[in-house]
Amino acid sequence: MNPIRHTTAAAPKAALALLAAAAALVAAPLTATAQQGPIKIGFMLPYTGTYASLGDNIEKGFRLLVQEQGGKLAGREIQYFKVDDESEPSKATDNVAKLIKRDQVDVLVGTVHSGVALAMARAARESNTLLIIPNAGAGDITGPLCSPGIVRSSFSNWQPAYAMGVVAGSKGVKRAMTITWNYAAGTESVKGFAEGLEKSGGKVIKELNLPFPGVEFQALLTEIAAQKPDAVYSFFAGGAAVKFVKDYDAAGLRRTIPLYGPGFLTDGTLEAQGAAAQGMLTTLHYADNLDTPRNNAFRKSYALTYKANADVYSVQGYDAAQILAAGLAAVKGDMKQRDAMNAAMRKVTVDSPRGKFTISPAGNPVQDIYLREVKGNYNEFRSIAVKSLADPARGCKL
Ligand code: BEZ
Repeated sequence: MNPIRHTTAAAPKAALALLAAAAALVAAPLTATAQQGPIKIGFMLPYTGTYASLGDNIEKGFRLLVQEQGGKLAGREIQYFKVDDESEPSKATDNVAKLIKRDQVDVLVGTVHSGVALAMARAARESNTLLIIPNAGAGDITGPLCSPGIVRSSFSNWQPAYAMGVVAGSKGVKRAMTITWNYAAGTESVKGFAEGLEKSGGKVIKELNLPFPGVEFQALLTEIAAQKPDAVYSFFAGGAAVKFVKDYDAAGLRRTIPLYGPGFLTDGTLEAQGAAAQGMLTTLHYADNLDTPRNNAFRKSYALTYKANADVYSVQGYDAAQILAAGLAAVKGDMKQRDAMNAAMRKVTVDSPRGKFTISPAGNPVQDIYLREVKGNYNEFRSIAVKSLADPARGCKL
């Protein structure tokens, strides 16, 4: 028989008070334990396919920051959940539901591919789950889809592309061709490049495209050779970037038509690209040899932990954890205070290996974009291409 039900109806006041006190004693430690429970992080990243190494390095960077903090953020243990999104937009809604509904994560961290990230952003908004994007640059996420609960630790596709257009223009490029995949990252990257180039009177004379994640470049390279532009601008990343840079070289184009791109073309890829990438100029918010105490310490810690060199993706993962840590610190680990936490993540100045950066009202890093040159296995800093570049955040209304 249930003793509580049995006593309630006829119990004298003193007995009820005793019961209430006993119940409070039982409840108090439970509540405290619940508040001390782990924060559940859901990594939705590509662990297979052309972007596999990018996803892997993002996770490594994130875990490194948490490890450096003793495995906790704002006093809370961190528990990880993982889904391989395969860079496959058609599976993205189901994949993100696994983390939100099945695993009930507190924070989503992902992803690399812009098309997949757009689905994640919609799901995060609908479920009010905090989303930290450690790569995908889709303009809409910090444009029309912007939200106080979504923040990027990386870039918008426009940022490094626009900077490369400015650099190409300063080098006298008047007629450029572009080649990329036919999805948001590629098309937005080409648009940003054209915008930067047009500032000095240059023009994109022809845009070449192929479906993601295709790597059949030969016919397109033949067309480039026939058109003889002043330069080629290209967005590819991961395994496909390795193949593209090698194919461009093998086609004999490297010496006559400079190949430019956002730094994804040569980041995390140089060992495999070898001689084909030497001397290439790219623009990005990170360079391997930034000689600052922050970058040197980060690279050392990363190399010691993983026996591998950090790249831009490792930095973006590390900074995603830094932004989360700032938000959690502001609310002393209490994720129920989401508004205060969201606001704190917008106010932080991130002390990143790339250099300090702030977050725009739309949730995107405001950061220096560097011009880098490939030397051996490193993307070396040459100059600041554009200082404190903010994404235009077109269509973002908060
Ligand atoms: C993107 O899809 O947004 C992306 C993928 C790889 C590198 C950079 C951007």
